[in-house]
Amino acid sequence: MSSLVFAVNGQRFELSNVDPSTTLLEFLRSQTPFKSVKLSCGEGGCGACVVLLSKYDPLLDQVEDFTVSSCLTLLCSVNGCSITTAEGVGNSKDGFHPIQERFAGFHASQCGFCTPGMCVSFFSALVNADKTNGPEPRPGFSKLTVSEAEKAIAGNLCRCTGYRPIVDACKSFATDVDMEDLGLNSFWKKGESDEVKLSRLPSYNHCNASSKFPEFLKNEIKAGGDLFSEGHGWYSPTSIEQLQSLLEMDDDNNGTTMNIVVGNTGTGYYKELQCNERYIDLKYIPEVSIIRKDQTGIEIGASVTISRAIKALREENEYEFRQGKMVFKRIADHMEKIATAFIRNSGSIGGNLIMAQRKQFPSDIATILLSVGTLVNIMTGQKIEKLTLEELLEMPPLHSKSVLLSIKIPCWESRNKDISSENDTKLLFETYRASPRPLGNALPYLNAAFLAEISLCNNSTGVMLKYCQLAFGAYGTKHSIKARKVEEFLTGKVLSVGVLYDAIKLLGTIITHDDGISSPAYRSSLAVGFLFEFLSPLIDTPAEISGGWLNGYDNGQFDEIKLPTLMSSAKQVIQSSKEYHPVGEPIPKTGAAIQASGEAVYVDDIPSPTNCLHGAFIYSTEPLARVKGIKFNPGWSPDGVAALITVKDIPGENVGLATIFGNEPLYADEVAQCAGDRIAFVVADTQKHADLAANLAVIDYDKENLEPPILSVEEAVERCSFFEVPSFLCPEQVGDFSKGMAEADHQILSAKLKLGSQYYFYMETQTALAVPDEDNCIVVYTSNQSPEFTHDTIAKCLGIPGHNVRVIMRRVGGGFGGKAIKSIPVATACALATYKLQRPVRIYMNRKTDMIMAGGRHPMKITYSVGFKSNGKITALKLDILIDAGIYPDVSLVMPEHIVGTLKKYDWGALSFDIKVCKTNLPSRSAMRAPGEVQASFITEAIIEHVASTLSIDVDSVRNINLHTYNSLDFFYKNNAGEPLEYTLPSIWDKLATSSSFYRRTEMIKEFNRSNKWRKRGISRVPTVHEVILRPTPGKVCILRDGSIVVEVGGVELGQGLWTKVKQMTAYGLSLTQCGGTDELLEKVRVIQADTLSLIQGGMTAGSTTSESSCEAVRLCCNVLVERLTALKERLLKQMGSIEWETLIMQAYMNSVNLSASSLFIPGISSRAYLNYGAAVSEVEINLLTGGTTILQTDLIYDCGQSLNPAVDLGQVIA
Ligand SMILES: Cc1cc2nc3c(=O)[nH]c(=O)nc-3n(C[C@H](O)[C@H](O)[C@H](O)COP(=O)(O)OP(=O)(O)OC[C@H]3O[C@@H](n4cnc5c(N)ncnc54)[C@H](O)[C@@H]3O)c2cc1C
Ligand code: FES
Ligand code: FES
Repeated sequence: MSSLVFAVNGQRFELSNVDPSTTLLEFLRSQTPFKSVKLSCGEGGCGACVVLLSKYDPLLDQVEDFTVSSCLTLLCSVNGCSITTAEGVGNSKDGFHPIQERFAGFHASQCGFCTPGMCVSFFSALVNADKTNGPEPRPGFSKLTVSEAEKAIAGNLCRCTGYRPIVDACKSFATDVDMEDLGLNSFWKKGESDEVKLSRLPSYNHCNASSKFPEFLKNEIKAGGDLFSEGHGWYSPTSIEQLQSLLEMDDDNNGTTMNIVVGNTGTGYYKELQCNERYIDLKYIPEVSIIRKDQTGIEIGASVTISRAIKALREENEYEFRQGKMVFKRIADHMEKIATAFIRNSGSIGGNLIMAQRKQFPSDIATILLSVGTLVNIMTGQKIEKLTLEELLEMPPLHSKSVLLSIKIPCWESRNKDISSENDTKLLFETYRASPRPLGNALPYLNAAFLAEISLCNNSTGVMLKYCQLAFGAYGTKHSIKARKVEEFLTGKVLSVGVLYDAIKLLGTIITHDDGISSPAYRSSLAVGFLFEFLSPLIDTPAEISGGWLNGYDNGQFDEIKLPTLMSSAKQVIQSSKEYHPVGEPIPKTGAAIQASGEAVYVDDIPSPTNCLHGAFIYSTEPLARVKGIKFNPGWSPDGVAALITVKDIPGENVGLATIFGNEPLYADEVAQCAGDRIAFVVADTQKHADLAANLAVIDYDKENLEPPILSVEEAVERCSFFEVPSFLCPEQVGDFSKGMAEADHQILSAKLKLGSQYYFYMETQTALAVPDEDNCIVVYTSNQSPEFTHDTIAKCLGIPGHNVRVIMRRVGGGFGGKAIKSIPVATACALATYKLQRPVRIYMNRKTDMIMAGGRHPMKITYSVGFKSNGKITALKLDILIDAGIYPDVSLVMPEHIVGTLKKYDWGALSFDIKVCKTNLPSRSAMRAPGEVQASFITEAIIEHVASTLSIDVDSVRNINLHTYNSLDFFYKNNAGEPLEYTLPSIWDKLATSSSFYRRTEMIKEFNRSNKWRKRGISRVPTVHEVILRPTPGKVCILRDGSIVVEVGGVELGQGLWTKVKQMTAYGLSLTQCGGTDELLEKVRVIQADTLSLIQGGMTAGSTTSESSCEAVRLCCNVLVERLTALKERLLKQMGSIEWETLIMQAYMNSVNLSASSLFIPGISSRAYLNYGAAVSEVEINLLTGGTTILQTDLIYDCGQSLNPAVDLGQVIA
């Protein structure tokens, strides 16, 4: 049996026993020290797991480097390859790569979970740019252009950092960058020359940009050729004959599954619930991997990757396809919108078409290839058949042993000789797709491709469609189709409005959807919109066409006006004062460089202790049902299962979450209350086995004598199912609603709004590791915004005293509220399993389970009545709000207060409301990024828009007239309005109008809309008032003997830069000792992980207030220490004339000065709650035919007082 040989970061690996279903990511994370590859989506959709794969061609002596998603790439397929992870790009030991240093210096990493993948994607772009024949770049830059640099990370998802700093870090390598365009960074100060700026950047020499393929591997490849053709259930046939015999052999292998594979990216879409035992890799069969061009077209082997196909379609060649070149180029352009570079680099053309043929995959490739009459070669047994793609798609799903060998895209001028030989005919080809995001990584709602041959009518009064092929797909149909009836109808017709209208009507009868598809009406209208967009210019402007066309018109004039689709530029101006130095300085975020190199340790990166087990939740799939039992699917015996933990195993209380509002059970006790309710925890030897076992679990339900579940707020109202909001959380009504209504000139009564839910999509899913400790104790590592509550819950559940539990929390890979509460049951489940089995137990939840259980943002139904004057001044507003809180209270009872806090941002005259927190049989909703405030902001603006449209007046004037005066602000916000001078919203409002040229742009937009039929623009200016509420927060500062400082705070580092700000505050606080060397104190401070036994009363990190309160707690500690040190310092100063920090501290040790101080910051009456103001202007464009929207520009002013660290704070602005 041969071995699998490859290199990771230059290190050789030789494996002789591999489960062929193992992914590269599983291997890297579990069997190497390289943890920079992160598992986030597990579907090829986020880029957190991206690695650089390098392949050596011994014949050409060339190395090919490209990115792949390691979560989908199978380990066996990397035989002979070299893999580079972020640690291999650069690290703290061998030196960071300038990419990593610039990511840190441009403040481009917050939680950091996405950053290693981003760095690898960008590294690949640099390596490949240098291989091009492009001109030599300026010294210090790469051959990349700004636009290529921006695109290099398209597809790498970041959920925390506004992309602007990330893009700036990438653009800083681009040879054509204007240094002025690069935003705030830690390298240079404003006003420095370009030369100085460049000299301050971590230096880059493009000549060193190479992936460094290891020599030993090159030699082995040269010596051994094919290193791994068979073994471990992995087969790499090198001829069609070998493939045929392998497929025949499969007939004799009863039971075991054989899977043809190329990139394995299909599993990103179709999750495999079982592991395949045998794979046939098609990549090494010449017929399946060729690219051949001749005058009849381009033949592409089925295993050719999408990236290679794009390159081939774009390449100039000796056959000089004239018009055909335009067709190939458009196909390539469309293919570039598919998925992301790291999927296109491994996903094959054949794999895509087979998914479309067999599994109804909403393929782009099938649609665009269908429109150009593509042919396919299919092999079944010994038989090879040539079919049209249309025939293939219309056949029943192919047998699993049928193989697609290649496709042939015909060259259009050669097939239609009459087109190329005539002067007065023209070939048009255009492709379309609408998807949630324009730049890939989002499947289309509908795609289309149209090919047509047109000619001018003799009298030049119109355009005749001589011929057309119209393909549509992905709209909820079994496969891409050709709209034959429309094609036939249009053929030979002179285009007119009437003809187009009839064609569109006919199209409506063809574009019909399968049941259950989302947004069916939108998809149908897209089909019409695209056809209209293709044909209508031929009706509108035949004269222009005739003029342009004779000069080589290629349909390009009807292209969308190109809008900036990427972040082109941004500007930041900051003012800092030295008064509290280094507080207020834009210093880089602590740990950013190790985040970029992937060395930062997240919970799942902590090496597994000996004997560690892994858990997965078994959850209810029914909204309300009695659970009679759980068994595993007969016939599929799960491997490695060690235990099944249920409610019966709980020694203490059945509690998975304890809050002041009530408890939530850890496991359903008899009755599961919602789909996603936790029923059990299966524990196995690996995470994969635990996940598979949970998938295989079959729950026996019984619904007899149970009421039907409550699945909507309306049903909750009918059945009076509400959570009671405690009186201290009930917001107060403002003014007299009836009086306000009586004063109104107009009224809108009982208008309705509905708001949906939203998932957190933190890059790191819920995770925990529990380790048993001596004497009935337990240590739990968790990714968590509220370690203290986790601690309490675990102690309650295990029935042990609090001091037996230690919860440790260092770093979170994104939280956004989702790890405030929802992480607690996850940590508790691990703790319970550990406690019962007395073995370490960990979990890293898979994305699907995480999404099902997470709950997310609160959906709402709102009914409002509003009274207003003819000038838009609102006199009274009343709202009935039904909040869907799901099954458990979680933190939903604070929602009314949060909602009303934001509703009050306008002067409504009088504000009355009835807010009900509904209990439904849905997963409990939790805090999520500005919970309640986001919804309330939407509600207020919707009402303002409604009033403006009712009066047919400009919406900005309605906003303007309803902005608070200080008096009305005071009336609405009572004690929190502050002093009149602190009410800065009016000045922000005016300043923003000037800085954004709001009025001038409003006029320009009116003009734009007058002269554009199908694209419209809008601009709006929106204010915000945020009620900030501070909570008591602890801190602890200890000075060690060598003068270095250790700090603990109640808040946890979520990527928001809390540790950085705390470090700055500590350095400032201790600098008040006024001894020598305190300028360097910042370097001496280390903030350490939260440990619930070391610092108590940490509470919850939420509400955007933890940094300031943690800093204040630390400042109080520093004050105590400075006071303790002052007498000694004065004494030493007298003796020595001057005193250095280190000497002072050493003397303090000798004199037994207590060098550890802790404090609990309790906000005073005046600082407990205050108001924050801001406003933003956004200009948006909408395409009326496709619904596509583009944000053209946003200007934002936010009064954040004096920023503790402007770089960290600016990083939070999503540009
Ligand atoms: C995140 C993501 C986003 C995507 N977005 C898009 C998109 O926007 N538009 C779009 O069109 N596609 C999209 N795709 C699909 C992508 O193009 C396909 O996953 C890819 O092309 C499949 O190729 P593969 O080599 O990885 O196939 P594999 O995963 O290796 O195989 C897929 C299936 O085809 C079978 N198979 C493969 N090759 C052959 C063959 N030659 N003969 C017979 N059977 C074969 C395999 O057995 C398997 O069942 C996306 C995929 C991902 C993961
Ligand atoms: S792309 Fe692999 S984890 Fe998201
Ligand atoms: S910093 Fe990118 S996901 Fe958190």
